[in-house]
Amino acid sequence: MLNPSLPFDQNAFYFSDGNLSKYKDLLHARLYNPVKMSFGRCVVHAGFFDRFYQIFLASNPIIANKFANTDLTAQKKVLKQGLNMVMMYADGQILAKKAVGRIRDSHSQGRLNIPPGMYGFWETSLMKTIAEFDPQFSPDLETQWRAVLKPALEVIKGGYMNDRSARLVAG
Ligand code: HEM
Repeated sequence: MLNPSLPFDQNAFYFSDGNLSKYKDLLHARLYNPVKMSFGRCVVHAGFFDRFYQIFLASNPIIANKFANTDLTAQKKVLKQGLNMVMMYADGQILAKKAVGRIRDSHSQGRLNIPPGMYGFWETSLMKTIAEFDPQFSPDLETQWRAVLKPALEVIKGGYMNDRSARLVAG
């Protein structure tokens, strides 16, 4: 959670429009907790991540292709952690900033090469999966989920052309 006694930039997470304060209260008071509870209702079901990958891989042939050689059992654990980080990122946590930065680099053009257009499929597949598993899912809750995912998605998508590891290699 945000720590009001720290300087603001130590708590900060950044949106692509650079406007922090506009979103802060909205995210914390109205969005994060309902989303966290929804996530909890989903992950108690063992099949949640299986179903996500079923929907996600079927959503676009490029995506199925990217995972052709992936051990999906391991990938499900990875995604669970990744999704936790994405949600913690919206909560301004420092650890999550680092983790999301690493995902941004690994998914960039020079590495996993995940085009920015693929993240819409990721988000829609996740929404469909949550709709199946969370009995309290509603259009309002979907809006809240999307708002919580947005900051990390923007960061990860934004790294496609300019990941830090590629710059280091290029000198
Ligand atoms: C915000 C959304 C996403 C999150 C949080 C996420 C998270 C992760 C994480 C944590 C890994 C493990 C490697 C690493 O730490 O970098 C990974 C690997 C991977 N991701 Fe993503 N990912 C996202 C979206 C996508 C999308 C849209 C694609 C499109 C195909 C994708 C394809 C892959 C592939 C191919 C791997 C490597 C699998 C392997 O090891 O064979 N990811 N992802």
